[in-house]
Parts: sequence; C-alpha cells; structure tokens
Amino acid sequence: MKTEPVDQDLLKQIDLDRLPKHIAIIMDGNGRWAKRRRLPRIAGHRAGIRAVRQAVEASARVGIPYLTLYAFSVENWKRPHTEVKLLMGLLRQYLKKEINELNRQNIRLEVIGRINELPKPVVDDLKNTLEETRKNTGMRLVLALNYGARAELVDAVQELLEKAKQNGAIKVDESMLSEHLYTRGFPDPDLLIRTSGELRLSNFLLWQVAYAELWVTETLWPDFTQKDLFQAIVDFQKRERRYGGLGLS
Ligand code: FPP
Repeated sequence: MKTEPVDQDLLKQIDLDRLPKHIAIIMDGNGRWAKRRRLPRIAGHRAGIRAVRQAVEASARVGIPYLTLYAFSVENWKRPHTEVKLLMGLLRQYLKKEINELNRQNIRLEVIGRINELPKPVVDDLKNTLEETRKNTGMRLVLALNYGARAELVDAVQELLEKAKQNGAIKVDESMLSEHLYTRGFPDPDLLIRTSGELRLSNFLLWQVAYAELWVTETLWPDFTQKDLFQAIVDFQKRERRYGGLGLS
C-alpha cells in the first residue's frame, strides 16, 4: 500500500499511554467530493476507500485497540439501486484486496449491523475475511454495515424478551443491555470523528457514544489523511473527560 509521509511532529505529540481505546468514524462527504470534481458519486466512494486505508493504517500504527467505521447504514438502502450496488461491489473489492494487508498488520475484522440482510456474495466475503483474520491479535477493525443504532437497540430488546420468555422475568440493567448489542465485548468509543462538517449522529452507536468526545472536521472523507486522525487524537488528549462528575482539578 502506498503510505503518505507521516507528520512526525504531530505523531510525537500523541501520548501513547492515554490513547482512545475505541475510535468510531462517520465517513461523510464522498458524494460532495465527487460533485466538486464533476465526477460521478461512485468516484467519491472509490476515493473514500483510499481514506479508509489511511485511517486503518494510522490507527493500527499508534496502537488504537478498536476502530469502527460507519460504512453502510440501514437508511442507505434508500439511495438509487445503482449506487447501492456499486457500494456493495466496492466493499467486496476492498475485502478481497485487503485480506493480506490486514493480516500483515495483525488486524482482526469484525462486523456490526444486520449482516444477514446484505446480498449473499457480500455476506460470504465478510464471513471469509472474518475467518481469515480471526487469529490476529492487534487492532479490531469493526465495519458497521446495514447498521442502525435504533435497529440495534430493537434487536437487543427482542433478544432480552426471548430470554425472559425462556427463563422467566429478568431484571435489565445497563450492562445487560450492553451485552445484547452488536458491540458486546467492545469498549465504548471514547472518540467519535465525523467528516464533512455535519453536526449529526445519524443513527450511529447512539447508546455507545454516551460519553464519547466528538471531533468534527470540514474535510470531506476522501481527503481524510493519517494527519487528520493524529490531530483528532492529539485534540482528544487535551480534553478533560468528566463523565458527569466534577473532574480531577
Ligand atoms: C458517505 O458519503 C459515505 C457513505 C455512505 C459510504 C462510505 C463508504 C465508503 C467510504 C466506501 C466503502 C467502505 C469500506 C469500508 C470498504 P456520502 O455519499 O453520504 O457523501 P455526501 O453526503 O457528500 O453525499
């Protein structure tokens, strides 16, 4: 993979002992990137893959344990059929091309969302990549596909109801609900990045980002670089996180 030169000064500013455990990214602005260049929207998505590679490589390089990318939402089915088809094709290409690179970087793939509703060839490629990277012990790369936070909460409640039906009444608390989300076992994101300047959560990880620090950049996703990711981490480390308390100082 072609790697961009890294801003060493910025990299040195990152405190490796206080890294976010989980970074989640809403990758937005592919369409606008293409429109500005009078290109078809799919050219923006294609360029977006380049940015995905940069974000993955940068996160793995500094030792981020979990990186979650919002790649396809439950709402994205409303887009024209041709765009959806092309996005699914790009995802399959990415998975096929990237397996070796993921293994080289010791990255394990994970997926969240209503995966079984995706087209069968996509599901097959995902299962294959999950299996091929299963033994990797480095960063977990989590792709949110056919994902919606409300759908996730509905699915969790449904599972809890099934459990109650089998075992009688159960008492639900926060950790029990968390254990029935697609993200069970993952730490909650502590840093949520959104590109292209929109100030919305767009039905992404609503439960899990309760205490996340938000970092929004005007940069459109295809222009997002390793430098942007490092800058987000540096800024995150300057924030005082209080979780509703009064803080330490
Ligand atoms: C948002 O841009 C982006 C998406 C809906 C899809 C993101 C997909 C990729 C980056 C490529 C495939 C991903 C992987 C992980 C292989 P938009 O189309 O909403 O942009 P706009 O708001 O400017 O129209």
